[in-house]
Amino acid sequence: MASRAQADRAGQGFKLWPGLLDRAAQEALRDAVFARAKLAPFYIPRMPKSGAPMSVRMTNFGPLGWVTDKEKGYRYEALHPETNRPWPDIPEAALALWERLSGYAAPPEACLVNLYEGSAKMGLHVDADEEAWDAPVLSISLGDTALFRIGGVLRSDPTRSVRLASGDVMMLAGDARRAFHGVDRILPGTSSLLAKGGRINLTLRRVTPPNT
Ligand code: SIN
Ligand code: MN
Repeated sequence: MASRAQADRAGQGFKLWPGLLDRAAQEALRDAVFARAKLAPFYIPRMPKSGAPMSVRMTNFGPLGWVTDKEKGYRYEALHPETNRPWPDIPEAALALWERLSGYAAPPEACLVNLYEGSAKMGLHVDADEEAWDAPVLSISLGDTALFRIGGVLRSDPTRSVRLASGDVMMLAGDARRAFHGVDRILPGTSSLLAKGGRINLTLRRVTPPNT
């Protein structure tokens, strides 16, 4: 079991800024995402080994992108797996949030973009494919509200449910950086930001330690 102290530290590393992005900022970021998704289309990621499709669709922005497929599993790649082209750049507004909130000296290298439609969800996992473990993960939510679940550093640790609404920004830092988390479901009709409904989540990640 993780110790009580570890659980407390994981709690401290979880930060939420509800409604940090106002409607105009949400619309601008939404438009920046869809413009880039024309160049780097959302695709269906597949689980390692089984090749089972995930229910979210994904794309990435930045020099590196998080990908997964049956053959090679979870990893970061510089090229979109279907177009074989570099990922588009990270929107300026997202970079500005990282600079303002992350407390990390180097910029993020990856912005994973998850698109949740219908019954899409994401199982409990730890973001563990980055070498820069000391860097936080910064999450920006757009569109319908998510029931986000966060626990501790062990899969068996108790979890709690947090609503992530459009414009909310959340950070996993310190021990929370290693906490299990996932998305139980999306609450349909809770935002008018996306014409077709659903949710977009952007997570900014530093992958390689700076100065290496
Ligand atoms: C993730 O853990 O990659 C996504 C979390 C979210 O969609 O809020
Ligand atoms: Mn994650």
